[in-house]
Parts: sequence; C-alpha cells; structure tokens
Amino acid sequence: MTRFTIHPIHTDFAAEIFDIDLSKKQSSADVNLIKEAFWKYAVLVFPDQKLSLDQHVDFATLFGPIEMNVNTYQEEVKKHRFDYRVSDISNLDEEDNILAENSRKRMSGLANRLWHTDSIFRHQPALASALYALTVVPIGGKTEFADTRAAWDALPDITKNKIDKLIVEHSIFHSRAKIGFTNFTEKEKAALPPSRQVLVRNIPESHRKALYIASHAMRIIGMSDLEGVALLDELMAHATQPQFIYSHRWRVGDLVIWDNRCTMHRGTDYDEKRFKRDMRRATVSDIGNTVELAY
Ligand code: OGA
Ligand code: MN
Repeated sequence: MTRFTIHPIHTDFAAEIFDIDLSKKQSSADVNLIKEAFWKYAVLVFPDQKLSLDQHVDFATLFGPIEMNVNTYQEEVKKHRFDYRVSDISNLDEEDNILAENSRKRMSGLANRLWHTDSIFRHQPALASALYALTVVPIGGKTEFADTRAAWDALPDITKNKIDKLIVEHSIFHSRAKIGFTNFTEKEKAALPPSRQVLVRNIPESHRKALYIASHAMRIIGMSDLEGVALLDELMAHATQPQFIYSHRWRVGDLVIWDNRCTMHRGTDYDEKRFKRDMRRATVSDIGNTVELAY
C-alpha cells in the first residue's frame, strides 16, 4: 500500500515527500510514483532518512547506473572518505577534521558555489544526483536549485529559435579557473577533456524543454568566443532569476535528488572554518552524450 504524501513546493518545481523510508526496498508501484513525481518536480526532498552508503546507492540506482566519482583524476584533492560510488561533498579531511584553508579539496569544493549541473563536463553527463545530509551547519550552507525548464518557457520566441540547435563546449577546469583554482597537472587535465553538449534539451518524460547550461560552459560551437560567452552569460542570468529558484535549507537526514538535465544548483556560503558540513552524493549517469542523442 502506498502511504507517502507529496507536498509540492512550487506548482511544478520541487516537492517534499513524507512518510517514506528509503532504506527499504520500494514496491514497483511506489517506484513508479516516485519517478512520476521526479519527472514532474525535478527536485525531490525526502526528510528524515537514515541511510547506509549501500542504501543510499541502492535508492539512486532506481534511476540508472551510478557514475564513478572524480577521485579517479584528482587523487590528491580527495582523500577517500567514501568509496568510488559516492562523491564526498564535505569540508572534512580523511580524519573528519575541517579542511585546511589551502587544501586542494577545499578549493575544488568551492567551485560548487557557482551555478552548475553535475557532470555536464563529461562526455556522458549525469541524469540525477542524490545528496544526503550527514552533518549540517546551523546557518548558511543552503543549496539553491534553478528550474531551467521554466527558464526556457519564459524566453522570447526569437531567443528560443536562435539557441535551439546550438552546441556548447564545457570543461571542469573552466569553472575551477573562475574561482582562481588553476594548478592542475597534465594528467588531471588529460583525464577530463572538454565535452560537447546541446544547449537546449528535450526531456522525454515531461515533454518539456530545458536550458542545459552551467558555469563549466566555455564557448558555443560556431560562434566567436566573445559572442558565445555573452550569450551564455545572458542565459545564466536569465535562468537564475528568483522566480525559478528553490532554496533548500538542510536538516540532518535529508536526501535531495535532482534532475541534472533540467536544473542547475549551487551551494551557498557558510562559516566553513567553524562548522562541519558533511554530505555525500550518489550520481546517476545519463543515457549518453546529449549531442549524440539529439542528432
Ligand atoms: C553537489 C553540489 C552543493 C552544496 O553536491 O553536486 O553542488 O550545497 N552541492 O553542497
Ligand atoms: Mn553539484
């Protein structure tokens, strides 16, 4: 029997799901209801969860195969607090102490403060991310989400027609450089070459279109760098207006899953020298490269 309840936060963006225990195996009817809500709302908040790493990963796997975290290319950045199935989204070192000011892991994490969607810089990007809160901070440290379907809907037709078929090049090193973090080794750079993705996605489950952009975006194929960057900046500013945003204030035990195909997100500031913030993220792979899927 299905008992959980869905409380929309906005009409069709972000919903909270109560009375469900994600540590248990869900019936296939419940899985379908969760997925339906996910396609509709794009961000789902599940409060009060108690999840082992395996249970967290099992839940994420309902949406597709798990993407390996980026430790593979940044051995020095992340000392492995968790295994390759989840990303360490914390300000802690391997002994659970607050990271030193100059730590590479800290620098890398700071890039999450820029609007982005996870793994757009990989050839095969991420479909969904499921972030689970183990330790939260008393003030700040929220995560903001932008609905890029609503942002697409609100564009004038002239812009929609202009951008509909464009392709964008993305690189993780581009967003890292924006926060002044540039000292990557050749090996690290070679492991994550730039990716190409469509600028506008069709989301089959909702039959909606979405802007597919992030701070990782470097240039638009076939446009001068100047023109491409100006257009990307304009679209980012458009998509992150307050009417498209849900801001999540974390509680211990929150599991938030979002659709990376049609949202952007960013972390917000907190006193990271004073407070511990500990989250881990399981990330689900998309079905392929968006340019290859679209043509
Ligand atoms: C992430 C992310 C932001 C935050 O986990 O992918 O960008 O608030 N997190 O920690
Ligand atoms: Mn992220």
